[in-house]
Amino acid sequence: MAHAHIDLDPRFTIGPVQRRLFGSFVEHLGRCVYTGIYEPGHPTADEDGFRGDVLELVKELGVSAIRYPGGNFVSGYRWEDGVGPKEERPRRVDLAWHSLETNEFGLDEFARWADKAGSEVMYAVNLGTRGVQEALDVLEYSNIKEGTTLSDQRVANGAPEPHNIRMWCLGNEMDGPWQLGHVSADDYGKIAAKTASAMRQMDPTLELVACGSSKPIMPTFAEWERVVLHHTYQHVDYISAHAYYEELDGDLDSFLASGANMDEFIESLVATIDHVKAALKSDKTINISFDEWNVWYNKRWHTEDKPRNATDWHYAPRLLEDQYSVADAVVFGSLLISLLKHADRVTSASLAQLVNVIAPIMTEPGGAAWRQTIFYPFAEASRLATGEVLRLNLSSDTYETEKYGTVNRVDAIATHDAETGAAAVFLVNRGADESATVTIDLGALVDGKSVTATTLTDDDVYASNSLEAPERVVPRANEELTVEDGRLTITLPAVSWTTLTIS
Ligand code: AHR
Repeated sequence: MAHAHIDLDPRFTIGPVQRRLFGSFVEHLGRCVYTGIYEPGHPTADEDGFRGDVLELVKELGVSAIRYPGGNFVSGYRWEDGVGPKEERPRRVDLAWHSLETNEFGLDEFARWADKAGSEVMYAVNLGTRGVQEALDVLEYSNIKEGTTLSDQRVANGAPEPHNIRMWCLGNEMDGPWQLGHVSADDYGKIAAKTASAMRQMDPTLELVACGSSKPIMPTFAEWERVVLHHTYQHVDYISAHAYYEELDGDLDSFLASGANMDEFIESLVATIDHVKAALKSDKTINISFDEWNVWYNKRWHTEDKPRNATDWHYAPRLLEDQYSVADAVVFGSLLISLLKHADRVTSASLAQLVNVIAPIMTEPGGAAWRQTIFYPFAEASRLATGEVLRLNLSSDTYETEKYGTVNRVDAIATHDAETGAAAVFLVNRGADESATVTIDLGALVDGKSVTATTLTDDDVYASNSLEAPERVVPRANEELTVEDGRLTITLPAVSWTTLTIS
């Protein structure tokens, strides 16, 4: 049995729980939009063709801002194709995912859908095949109330109120050679700065995100950010970060330690940002928009629906439909802990993605929708994390990994809401070989409160949910819990995610 100990004291805080940390991402990719969130004719579809079963699950997941419409897709996208009468919208090839784009779903539909889901829209402009003018056009269409050609078009298209989108991404992964129109850091920095300053002339209160490197492992990481931030520092509020993890070569121990890599990545990105800040003698702090993160098995790109090298263009092909296991959910939970641990600088994040494509929610066309294993850590943290993120004093037994060296078996984060007195602790045991006993000194925090815990685990770490067995893996009450004189003791099974609620 491994051991860990945590001191939890509400006087030590990292920063407020930012709602935008619980954001997600909807891209025109595979079946995320078509037969995911949008499927006219589905038995649960509403008058707009939005799947009611999916909307309910999105609300249960508790998603704040949702990034749209891509991703790689945005770098070849003409936003105006997706507005106006549906029967007149052009059909296009989407070069990012080699799919057929019918454009029957676009900006106005997404804004309407997000409103029904209770989420905020975060919009990415195309800086791959387009530039400043098109960014200004979509901003005018979306945010100006009325009285200009483009805003009047929106009104005529059935959206009388402006979409009032606050957060805008200046392109997507522009460092990636796979990206349409990808450029050098210097060229991207210049176009991003120009676009940002033009957009701010229309609305100085917009929150703008410059593209960071597409992956921490990109050889350009840090230098790309340094160059881009030198150009854009005064014009933007965020630099983006993207990271995906997967189990490779059967190395489960390293995979389970992915959160340690995420911690390092965030810390080195913060250091890079702050060096530029110092070099520019700026008073302004740039934060991180971690606008793509998840577990992603990169190899599941090509399916019988869309074979490699297809020259025909499929509508809504089954792409990137990863089925997540218990181990994946534990890694996912660790990544969430890592984001919360850095809530002072990671103030927005988007789980990539939301439905069907590397997603917590899966659907069958014409059929059911269900929750993947990764749904649960996100939904629990989104629901229970309120108030301030606490700085914990955590000590844990460790284990050795090939990729990331020595890592703590147990990792955790906690939040405390001074107004309600409620607190939550999120924990992972990433050791694959043994349970861990965790003691938590809570002091007066538990006085007169009820403490409950749920744990997501399984004897088979590769167990997952599916259409046939949608509830194979669910969190269950953890009864291995005692509280005595302000000290809580709980047992975490090997490879598990646990949520403790103190209320
Ligand atoms: O989320 C899937 C893809 O991953 C996105 O389109 C792209 O931005 C990233 O490389």
